[in-house]
Amino acid sequence: MAAGSSAANAAGQTLFPYCFGTERVADSGGQQRGSTLPYKGDEKMFKPGFHHLAFACRDIHETHRFYTQVLGFDLIHTEAKKMGEGFMRHIFFDIGDGSCLAFFDLHGVGEPKNFKTEISTGLDLPFWVNHLAFRGDTGRKKEVAAKLKAAGMEIKMELDHDWCQSMYFMDPNGIMLEICEDTPGIVPNREEAVRLLDAVPEAMAV
Ligand SMILES: [Fe+2]
Repeated sequence: MAAGSSAANAAGQTLFPYCFGTERVADSGGQQRGSTLPYKGDEKMFKPGFHHLAFACRDIHETHRFYTQVLGFDLIHTEAKKMGEGFMRHIFFDIGDGSCLAFFDLHGVGEPKNFKTEISTGLDLPFWVNHLAFRGDTGRKKEVAAKLKAAGMEIKMELDHDWCQSMYFMDPNGIMLEICEDTPGIVPNREEAVRLLDAVPEAMAV
């Protein structure tokens, strides 16, 4: 969805996905909320969001193949720089909305010999904790599932989160990825979101 626009249901409530641009959006109580962005300049000049997120990769060519062939992203920019006695390459994939997912290919720039690229298991966390979620729909999930199968890769799990439905899989660097499909008609409930910051699931409460 373009910046400066949002979808609304019949009651005029803003639906996911919505954006925090210059447009004032209505919360679930019908109150008007302004931009939450700290940026106060000419907001027509840019679309809020990530420019890029960057991670280290294990194999630049395997990473390139996966992100272009399985996910269909365009490689739009590559930097190759000498750094001291070493060098690095920095590659940028447009994920479809102009923002990028980037990877570093490191060669003697300060990285340990056998550094980990797994952003969860590399930190001794379960594989599903740190991950990247791309917006998608049912068709996109089917398309990616077929590409994964053709590449001999597996879907790790599919979950219904109520407010969205997700399909999870791993990239060649051990980074968990998600295609996340918003459930139509879900309205943000900020009060409930804040209340649940201190929630303990009933089964755990004693
Ligand atoms: Fe997620």
